[in-house]
Amino acid sequence: MTEAGRLEVPVWQTGQPAQLRIVPADVEGPVLSEEARALAERVIARYPTRRSALVPLLYLVQSEVGWVPRQGMREVASILGLTTAEVEAVGTFYTMLKLHPCGRFVISICTNPSCALLGGRRLYERAKELLGEQAEHISDDGMFTLEEEECLAACDQAPVVAVNYLFFDRVTEEALDRMIESIRAGNAPEASRGGVPGELKEISRTLAGLREGADGRG
Ligand code: FES
Repeated sequence: MTEAGRLEVPVWQTGQPAQLRIVPADVEGPVLSEEARALAERVIARYPTRRSALVPLLYLVQSEVGWVPRQGMREVASILGLTTAEVEAVGTFYTMLKLHPCGRFVISICTNPSCALLGGRRLYERAKELLGEQAEHISDDGMFTLEEEECLAACDQAPVVAVNYLFFDRVTEEALDRMIESIRAGNAPEASRGGVPGELKEISRTLAGLREGADGRG
């Protein structure tokens, strides 16, 4: 953290953090509505101890705000009876929890060795060309955040691109162009596994364990 409510994160350039940029890390609270707090209790009830619901509740914050501001971590700490430090230790560990504002679709391109050797870095540069430099934070239209990703554990399908955590295998530059065009047109393509990526808030709600199944259970 640099100053209250701000965070320094690197601007990436194909594998190298280049310079630092300052992004918001906090908002005014409360971020969880009464309804969201009731959902939180529903999630907590599934676990033997309240603290076990920590990660799902952080996804609940992300599903409400679109990212996880410090205020969200403070509210989760108070709901679970944890210290803010305990919540921050977990919240800052998982890269799927976004600690600064993001676009509605997070495009994560793996540039680790297997993917880099098969064009991952070229894909990243192409994505930056298509979305604009600003997309490394949020694209001008608010739709995209572009990020370099560490190994996504699907190296045999390299190069791999994830859109809101759903994987697309063996992606070519042409396929990337079509993918971005389709998302812009409101018609995200089906991932190689796991269906069609929804918007970040929606997928975060699923990760919080709150998507209703056909039987009505979360
Ligand atoms: S190196 Fe890209 S998925 Fe492993």
